[in-house]
This record gives sequence, structure tokens and C-alpha cells, in this order.
Amino acid sequence: MAKTPIAFTHNGDERAVFVDDGQNLLDMLRRTAGDLTPKYGCGQGTCGACTVLVDGAPQLACITLAETVDGRRIDTVAGLAAGQGGGRLSPLQKAFMDNFAAQCGYCTDGMLMSATALLARNPRPSRDEVVEAISGNLCRCTGYEAIINAVLQAASGGGSAQAGRR
Ligand code: FES
Ligand code: FES
Repeated sequence: MAKTPIAFTHNGDERAVFVDDGQNLLDMLRRTAGDLTPKYGCGQGTCGACTVLVDGAPQLACITLAETVDGRRIDTVAGLAAGQGGGRLSPLQKAFMDNFAAQCGYCTDGMLMSATALLARNPRPSRDEVVEAISGNLCRCTGYEAIINAVLQAASGGGSAQAGRR
């Protein structure tokens, strides 16, 4: 099978790898780059568990060809805490904990990345904007309310989720 060399930025680190023909980004990140935070859920672009940021925009890694990220910036949950000084949770991750927004946790990494992208482009989103931002991320456990409250809490600077409502 042919291998294609690519280089990309992975949570701030420069990476150079070889990808197989047809290999998807999720497989490359998990198997080649050793980042297990993007999850395999459906493998068909419907559940959002594999959501990562490509140049800051949420993208479904399971339906993205790995070779298309050559020269681009990939961010995953593995970089959220590391970005806070090496091991400390980001404010959004802390808000998820405060609000019990993760139960089985399988959707959580994808949720966090969709919410991270939202807060980067819109630091004070309305409740409806949060709902829209995570609409591609399915959760079978929480009923979504705790997740929405967590994102609103992070947007409000860490106080009550109610304070983030408009
Ligand atoms: Fe990618 Fe479900 S695993 S959308
Ligand atoms: Fe279990 Fe969301 S916490 S799928």
C-alpha cells in the first residue's frame, strides 16, 4: 500500500508521518500519532465522537482523509489541558466536571472540541447557540442539559450556568 508523507501541527507540536492511501484522520491520529482522545463511534460521520479541530473548525475525523490535513493545524482534547500549563484542566473541562456533563464519557471529547470551537468564535454564546454548536454530537447518557449548562458556565467565566443564559 502506498504511503504519503504529511506534516501537520498536533496540539502545538510539529508532526511528520506517513499515511496510507484512504486512511482517515481518526485512524491516523489514534494509531500513528498516538492520540486516543478522538473516539470511534459510528465511523460514518453521524455521531460526532471523533470531532477534532482542523485550523480551528470542528471536523469529523472519521470521514476526513488524513492526507488532507497536510500543512494544517489539528487540535484535540489532548491539547486542552496541556494548553493550560501541562495537566491542569481547561475552564471548559472544569465546567464539564462541575456540571456532571460526562457520564460514560464516550461523547465527551467530541463535545469538548465542538464547544471549544464555539467559545473561540463566540465567547458569550446564547443557549440556542450552544445547542446549535453541539447538534452534531450525540450523547446517549446525559439528556444534553448538563452539557449545555457546562458550556454556558465556561462562557460566563466559571460561575453558575444560569448566568450564561440570555
Ligand atoms: Fe466520526 Fe461517529 S465516529 S462521526
Ligand atoms: Fe455517555 Fe455522552 S456521556 S454518550
